[in-house]
Amino acid sequence: MPHVYIEDIAKYEGQEVTLKGWVYNRTDKGRLRFVIVRDGSGLIQAVVFQKAVSPEVFAAADTLTQESSIMVTGKVRADQRAPGGYELDVTDLQVIQQTQGYPITPKEHGTAFLMENRHLWIRSSRQNAALRIRSEIIKACRDFFDDRGFVLVDTPIITPAACEGTTTLFELDYFGEKAFLTQSGQLYNEADCMAFGKVYCFGPTFRAEKSKTRRHLMEFWMIEPEVAFAELDDIMALAEDLITYVVARVLDKRAEELKRLERNTSLLEKIRPPFPRISYHEAFDILEKEGTQTPRGADLGAPDETLLSSRYDLPLMVHRYPKDVKAFYMQPDPENPELALCVDVLAPEGYGEIIGGSQRIHDYDLLLNRIKEHNLPLEAFQWYLDLRKYGTVPHSGFGMGIERVVAWICGLEHVRETIPFPRMLYKIYP
Ligand code: 4AD
Ligand code: MG
Repeated sequence: MPHVYIEDIAKYEGQEVTLKGWVYNRTDKGRLRFVIVRDGSGLIQAVVFQKAVSPEVFAAADTLTQESSIMVTGKVRADQRAPGGYELDVTDLQVIQQTQGYPITPKEHGTAFLMENRHLWIRSSRQNAALRIRSEIIKACRDFFDDRGFVLVDTPIITPAACEGTTTLFELDYFGEKAFLTQSGQLYNEADCMAFGKVYCFGPTFRAEKSKTRRHLMEFWMIEPEVAFAELDDIMALAEDLITYVVARVLDKRAEELKRLERNTSLLEKIRPPFPRISYHEAFDILEKEGTQTPRGADLGAPDETLLSSRYDLPLMVHRYPKDVKAFYMQPDPENPELALCVDVLAPEGYGEIIGGSQRIHDYDLLLNRIKEHNLPLEAFQWYLDLRKYGTVPHSGFGMGIERVVAWICGLEHVRETIPFPRMLYKIYP
């Protein structure tokens, strides 16, 4: 019998097939055993009728416990009442392992318990939906850049210097030398865009952030484009197009998963350009009227971001923050050098910042001064300064945090459910 995946079952209506998977649930009714089978690609009800199978097979069906591994053969029958539209009329059943005491039962469990059992929790339906959407989002990001002539250039994980401030570095010993896990591929992306024109990198990034919030992870994945000759407006348009593309892709390809998550998709269907753009100071005019505690000149706090973004149905682009609250490498605004040519994109529905980007300093002397002002080790930045010596040009890029995008698109409360094995403050198991 051909082995098929549940997501492909519609192609086999009326045929006999074999499914390989695990028991999600079982209920008994007289001479019928209803076994919900999951195989990672979907769920289906397999119906074991005493008269349709051998006594051995019926006895085997009676031993099935949650998460027992099985191979089940049967005929695919369309059934309007079935959640996936099909059921399997079982003709044969083989138990690979009968499971005892699976800890995650259909009853409600607390989050701490579920996180402790994350290696098993990922089998459940909601987690499966979120992680499949994550996979789709990553593919959509890559297709977006690949189709637009960007070259994927991988950047190193182990680095000699900080990109996003020295306070959140994970330090490691590199044969007696101090090294760090990367916070961002950006600095190397800048070298790469001078070699390839348009590049992107995608990989894990690390921040030792002592913040226990629903938006922060110690290890997260970031997609980062960098474009030679691009200015701030160019990458704001790029960010807008990327977000629109990714949302449309998920709506198109992962409708079933969004439904499983009970996501209100009408909110996602509104995501189309143009996105609203406001400057940092315009944002503060609003925030001050609303009575924010944050002083003008400081970085926006999470409540400020929530307040601002709740005014719109679309992602909000906040540009031109004071240079002092942003990273050392940002190009000053020619109209007011106290401001940086940067942008943060805030997701709707209070999901906060999903993208951070900027135009980069392309002048050698200005960059040298900034490196000194920020007390960064000059030796480690010699190569970075070189880029401003040999054919320097304006260039810009941004980073989009995958987990925050997954949280927003899936409508999840916390980023811990957006990555298979989250690394959180003081929490590294499993
Ligand atoms: O704003 P950030 O720090 O920007 C950079 O790292 C730039 N070097 C990127 C670039 O221009 N190439 O981070 C970018 C994004 C944030 O908007 C957020 O989505 C995500 O990365 N992010 C985090 N996600 C989860 N947990 C954390 N601790 C995060 N820190 C940043
Ligand atoms: Mg940021």
